[in-house]
Amino acid sequence: HIGCDKKGPIMKPTVAPFPTTRLRRMRATPALRRLARQNVLTTNDLIWPIFVMDGEDTETPVPSMPGVTRKTVDRAVVAAKEAHALGIPAICIFPYTGMEARTEDCEMAWDPDNVSNRTIRAIKDAVPDIAIMTDIALDPYNINGHDGFVENGEIVNDRTVEALVKMALAQAEAGADILGPSDMMDGRIAAIRSALESDKYQNVTILSYTAKYASSFYGPFRDAVGASSALTGDKNTYQMDPANSDEALRLVERDLNEGADMIMVKPGMPYLDICRRVKDTFGVPTYAYQVSGEYAMLMAAAENGWLDSDKVILESLLSFKRAGCDGILTYFAPRIAKALSG
Ligand code: PBG
Repeated sequence: HIGCDKKGPIMKPTVAPFPTTRLRRMRATPALRRLARQNVLTTNDLIWPIFVMDGEDTETPVPSMPGVTRKTVDRAVVAAKEAHALGIPAICIFPYTGMEARTEDCEMAWDPDNVSNRTIRAIKDAVPDIAIMTDIALDPYNINGHDGFVENGEIVNDRTVEALVKMALAQAEAGADILGPSDMMDGRIAAIRSALESDKYQNVTILSYTAKYASSFYGPFRDAVGASSALTGDKNTYQMDPANSDEALRLVERDLNEGADMIMVKPGMPYLDICRRVKDTFGVPTYAYQVSGEYAMLMAAAENGWLDSDKVILESLLSFKRAGCDGILTYFAPRIAKALSG
């Protein structure tokens, strides 16, 4: 009862004449702000996803992702050299595939000479020090665009896992350092890990797309890899419901027990709460994927002059560090590496 005493006369309020805690003090100069700064984004935090395609010495723009191209293998090698020179630790390869590469049994997925495996070998050869990450899912090679085999309209789990293991071994054989199962089938991490162990690839790491949501933010990516026209229906029976959060923790626990080295949350910005919960609960290497739709949103606003691009990109990437992530897959990687070094 400030300022009031039941029995006695009315008292004066006991409010201090000035605020004792002035949080603005630590913001007053650039030096103090630097001292107080909790999170930093560096080039070491970046993984750069690139799109590769057949052909020679060509790049074709992805219309819904301004500034992003699909590159032939030789151009992907140039990109890897550039990334390495900028200090980016890892590059992630996604194949563009036309209808001719797609079949019902997805055999091209574990072909040692598919465009993705050829790119892995070419980059390993030319830039041995950059880490090469892959994507494991059947969607680039599947006639219906799904990450798993479809039987009678259903995405079947266990037969798909067997195919994913073959795909993983072909990528490891080609020289991949980080395998990225993005399919969301149950049991795939254990199956891939045990195949790697028994087949001389103990040191190949797995960055599991663990909490991968059935998101509409993947639209531009599906254009980039040629999946938009192939995909029939949606991925809701295997990717996570955007309404769920506890389930992400169960998935992370499961994937860690099955032998994943790193955990991914995807998409990124709309799922920072999940990043934070995962990091707080497990304290393991945690990554977020700032996906194609997030890239498209920021670029569209920047191209219209509605947002200051470098600033919002840096702010968006810093948000992942604040949410506890150890790194970010982002199409902005080379641009931001340049900005950070400049
Ligand atoms: C395919 C895959 C997708 C992305 C990465 N791997 C698309 C999907 O699940 O349909 C999306 C990446 C992005 O949007 O940038 N398994």
